[in-house]
Amino acid sequence: MDWRWEGSAQKTESPVPPERRVVLEDTGEDDISESLQLLQIDVECEHREKETQHPGSAVWCSKNVQRKQRHWEKIVAAKKSKRKQEKERRKANRVENSGNTESGLCPQHSKRFLRSLTKEKLLEARHSGPRLCIDLSMTHHMSKKELSRLAGQIRRLYGSNKKASRPFWICLTGFGTDSPLYEECLRMNDGFSSYLLDVTEEDCFSLFPLEALVYLTPDSECALEDVDLNKVYILGGLVDESIQKKVTFQKAQEHSVKTARLPIQEYMVRRQNGKNYHSEILTINQVFDILSTYFETQNWPEALKRGVSSRRGYVLQDPVE
Ligand SMILES: C[S@@+](CC[C@H](N)C(=O)[O-])C[C@H]1O[C@@H](n2cnc3c(N)ncnc32)[C@H](O)[C@@H]1O
Repeated sequence: MDWRWEGSAQKTESPVPPERRVVLEDTGEDDISESLQLLQIDVECEHREKETQHPGSAVWCSKNVQRKQRHWEKIVAAKKSKRKQEKERRKANRVENSGNTESGLCPQHSKRFLRSLTKEKLLEARHSGPRLCIDLSMTHHMSKKELSRLAGQIRRLYGSNKKASRPFWICLTGFGTDSPLYEECLRMNDGFSSYLLDVTEEDCFSLFPLEALVYLTPDSECALEDVDLNKVYILGGLVDESIQKKVTFQKAQEHSVKTARLPIQEYMVRRQNGKNYHSEILTINQVFDILSTYFETQNWPEALKRGVSSRRGYVLQDPVE
């Protein structure tokens, strides 16, 4: 398949090479040798001083010196052992917290190694992963508050994708680098300019063959059945403070592009709540979490459970016996 999808977000690297940073942060050996050197100088000075004051009293001097040396050696050893314990404690914490065996990662791998694996996974998704556009061409009427929320949702979505064992390749379309949203993303999202995704001012409809596109919209009549590698899924980059119904549905229809909604009605039921509030309209990061979990598990109930919070007024149907 020949996609016209090129040119990723710029990468800006710290001028300090990562190997150097890790060495400096992790060892602390410099501290120890510096302490020992100072001790040596201190002891030698004292030795010379006593020799001048009491010539021939070498035995008395060396006892004092030895005691001082032993004392310092104990301090240095205690520091070293404390550092070792601290390192082991951090390692144990990492093992406990990661529990990342599902993704096939070994918890004791170094951060640098895990980072390079994530990068590899994301770049591989560019060629063989499912594809997702976030249509950011409708942001001109959004308030500053809505833009901030959208920037936050893009950050969470990207964060989830980085953690996924089978990530999507993401393209932010209709997205000018001089737009207020871009500025907000730079301001709010650490490392945004080095996100591994594509950014383009072009509209998603001109980037791909129309028959490959599926616009995800809560107003569609069709429920999404599967995530297909030959399709490109589109999410509407909208934050509806006051819900503008059918905006994305109409846009998709204008371009004769297929639409689909999440299969919430198929697998979930309305739950009674005080306000009688039920909504199938989710944020883009929630929709993405559902797609991503479904793609990994091929299980809609599990995926919907992850993304549709009970605040939306829906719970999973009881499984049929
Ligand atoms: C906050 S919603 C915006 C809803 C807006 N009224 C519209 O016309 O799309 C943000 C985006 O998330 C996606 N989305 C939200 N809920 C969805 C659902 N139940 N099914 C499919 N897509 C959904 C859609 O792409 C939608 O444009």
